[in-house]
Amino acid sequence: MGKKINLTIDGKKIQAMEGDKILWAALENDIYIPHLCAMKEQQQSPFAGCRLCFIEIEGKPRPVAACTEPALEGMVVNTRSESIDRLVEAGFNLIMSNHHIDCKICAASGACELQKIAKERKIRLKPKKLVQLDRNLPKDHSKDCIIYDPNKCVLCGRCVTACRTEGTAVLGLAYRGFERMVTTFGDIPLGETDCSGCGSCANVCPAGALIETDN
Ligand code: FES
Repeated sequence: MGKKINLTIDGKKIQAMEGDKILWAALENDIYIPHLCAMKEQQQSPFAGCRLCFIEIEGKPRPVAACTEPALEGMVVNTRSESIDRLVEAGFNLIMSNHHIDCKICAASGACELQKIAKERKIRLKPKKLVQLDRNLPKDHSKDCIIYDPNKCVLCGRCVTACRTEGTAVLGLAYRGFERMVTTFGDIPLGETDCSGCGSCANVCPAGALIETDN
């Protein structure tokens, strides 16, 4: 078992277990750091794909991802600075330029991580300077208990991990570049796979792409 260490985040002195990732140490102490792809259960092998959890650590030459950086004794961490805010805003805008925004009718509205990040960091949900890239992919209603809307997927990979660890491993990331998406093997509808309908994918989806229905 690890030992407790002391560190400072945004001027607040906190304690954490040595080696725990700074993201979780901060969140447990009510210090918000934007994050989409990180899952606490997976902190030993973080995916680090969303690039929203940037922080600065005194003594390090450039920003690092809080979800991959282990907490060490005496660390001094800052979650906000001009360059961090710029990096986070740029990353968030890129994600949002590819996210179908329909908050007024979205079932995830109110519990959506994208709304939370926008509010916390005072960033517009709809990027001003980037063209909205709507892919108009069909929604998958084939499974009675889950609706999958790939147009809202932010490619964080949480559902893929959850499906592998708690479900029947039917979800994966496929294709490259702009075509990249979460889909099933062979790109077949969820209802035609071995999906058990456990809902673990919808439970971890931060953006309303996977929604559990009442069925
Ligand atoms: S939460 Fe750290 S890169 Fe996504």
